[in-house]
Amino acid sequence: MVNDLRVAVFQNLSRLSMPFFNRATTGDLITRINGDALLLQTCLASGVSILVSEPVAIVSIFTGLCLIDWQLTLCMLVLFPVCVIPIVHFGKKARKATGKRVAANIDQSSLAVEMFSGMRVIKAFGLENTQVDRFRELSQQLIRQTMKTVRSREIVGPLVETVSMIGIGALILYVVHTARSMPDLVVFFTGLIMFYTPIRKLARMHVRIEEASVGAQRLIHILDEKPDILEQPKARPVIEFQQNIEFDGVSFAYEDETVVTGLNLKIPKGSKLGIVGESGSGKSTIINLLFRFHDPDAGSVKLDGYDLRDLNIKEFRRQMALVSQEVVLFDLTVAENIALGQTGCTREQIESAARHAHAHEFITALPSGYNTRVGERGVTLSGGQRQRLAIARAFIRNAPILVLDEATAALDSKAEGEVQSAIDQLA
Ligand SMILES: Nc1ncnc2c1ncn2[C@@H]1O[C@H](COP(=O)(O)OP(=O)(O)O)[C@@H](O)[C@H]1O
Ligand SMILES: [Mg+2]
Repeated sequence: MVNDLRVAVFQNLSRLSMPFFNRATTGDLITRINGDALLLQTCLASGVSILVSEPVAIVSIFTGLCLIDWQLTLCMLVLFPVCVIPIVHFGKKARKATGKRVAANIDQSSLAVEMFSGMRVIKAFGLENTQVDRFRELSQQLIRQTMKTVRSREIVGPLVETVSMIGIGALILYVVHTARSMPDLVVFFTGLIMFYTPIRKLARMHVRIEEASVGAQRLIHILDEKPDILEQPKARPVIEFQQNIEFDGVSFAYEDETVVTGLNLKIPKGSKLGIVGESGSGKSTIINLLFRFHDPDAGSVKLDGYDLRDLNIKEFRRQMALVSQEVVLFDLTVAENIALGQTGCTREQIESAARHAHAHEFITALPSGYNTRVGERGVTLSGGQRQRLAIARAFIRNAPILVLDEATAALDSKAEGEVQSAIDQLA
């Protein structure tokens, strides 16, 4: 069940749109999938049977005690609320500590992600120790908060026991006072101890549930999150790009930073358009709008005269191929990385795309050629090589709209010229 939940969370995350991922931190998301689900899992694993069996025990023992001596049993019940107060109190405490623990966990995950993805920079700037210090501090915080929750969980048991001991003491006094027979006392005494055992178990369980609820709430929050970019219920299918792309009075701002204002632009099919501007001027933003990673605040982006917001998202994106500044390679073979998202393409098609992107030569020089695994994020390849794989990937997609976002920035001028001519052939 926890596994299903994790898959559901992951699936919902995959559906969310870019604005969400710009807001969320990687550490937070990883913690939600791993840590929060784990909190729930430990709770469920240790707990569900207790929640069923113990109340049954309480009811049956209570009935038994009533049968022996109902007056005495009711007297004992007076002590019951005395148990409940610390249980609720420590449950709340554990919950608060768990919240802080999760926060520390998130920061730690973020730090780890940052460290491993930025190792080169960290080493170059000599930041290893700074990172370790930050990690240590977070670790200590994590341990402190974990200890708090463990303490809360462990303390409720003895507290319930103390209360039950007081009860037993009172019982002995009562028995002496009323001069009841010894066998009565023994039976009742045993019953009472049996009565408090399930209460103690439930008390600990309550604290555990309070802890798990922190994780559960965070998971539910993700499951409730709706994509900002939504498809119309009756979205128009896109069979083939035919006429033009149009930006019609488009304005757009990230949060409060306006990047594009009143952009009018018509790009007919078969034409080539280059956009020049200094860095930070909004070139990539225009591409984000074209792919509908974001919706414009005013105006509309149109494909063949239809507003992107009315079109089937998957289908219109299939008309486009993107080669961006940051090349994303997956830990797959070279061939699989090129064929990405294209099921059933042949080795010939892959090689032909690679040749066009001037990648064939370096690929065949790799240890296992096209079957070489590139390693996570393609760390085993040079920047220019990665870029060429990304270009080959765009070529094989054979989409009518090819979008290059500073795609040749990582290439030397010779390779740039070659790729440029390949792109020219394509058009
Ligand atoms: N996800 C984002 N959230 C907030 N601001 C952003 C985001 N992406 C880009 N910007 C801002 O928008 C402006 C344009 O960025 P961008 O389109 O990437 O420029 P270019 O591609 O021309 O270098 C920059 O000032 C940048 O700081
Ligand atoms: Mg850019």
